[in-house]
Amino acid sequence: MKNVITIDGPSGSGKGTISKLLALKLGYDYLDTGALYRAVAWKVREKKTDPENEEDLKKILGNIKINFKGDRIFVDGTDVSSDIRTAEIGELSSQVSAKPAVRAALFSLQREMGLQGKVVIEGRDTGTVIFPEAENKFYLDAGIEERARRRYEELKDRAQNIEHRTQTGNNMLTIETVMEDIRKRDLRDSSRESSPLMKTDDMVYIDSTHLSIEEVVAKILDHLK
Ligand code: DC
Repeated sequence: MKNVITIDGPSGSGKGTISKLLALKLGYDYLDTGALYRAVAWKVREKKTDPENEEDLKKILGNIKINFKGDRIFVDGTDVSSDIRTAEIGELSSQVSAKPAVRAALFSLQREMGLQGKVVIEGRDTGTVIFPEAENKFYLDAGIEERARRRYEELKDRAQNIEHRTQTGNNMLTIETVMEDIRKRDLRDSSRESSPLMKTDDMVYIDSTHLSIEEVVAKILDHLK
């Protein structure tokens, strides 16, 4: 399957930036699967649903309508593109994404979106579960400190993250609190039973810690079959 390029990796590995640029260079569509989990988390928060209660989550999943229009994402008609980028939704999305009912509900949606044309799809399980048959699969990584620095820069500019919280109750947004959040999410995303984040032998591994965006994209282009 040559129409689909998958890019998996942990938070702050640069998947989003790289995938978008790669898609632009190749004239492919871009699918950010993390945004789907964030959209579900947004609805869970809006409905004040218990993210641990799978029956309640199923009710939400039965009714939710998620659409992309260009680079905007809508949940039941509401543009949530900015609201889903907070640290709070990041944490909640990691929590709900560990639930098999949530993964099952988003599976077909991702397959359908991915099969519509040529697409760069990025997330945690795009090369293992969503498109295991893709010929071009990449695993993007970076050192935890660099990932925390990137995420911090991204969050710093967002006003809503003034309310950033960590599990320790620290509400300051610092590189240290962001690193702590990332560690917690990495652990949950890679140790869950249901399609955990993992690198398989058929993925090309790229460590972007000391590489520029252009250098990472060039490496990917070099490896394309
Ligand atoms: O990439 P991101 O930070 O926007 O993803 C948010 C969360 O969604 C992440 O912590 C785990 C989950 N996720 C997932 O489980 N599988 C994917 N393919 C993409 C994201």
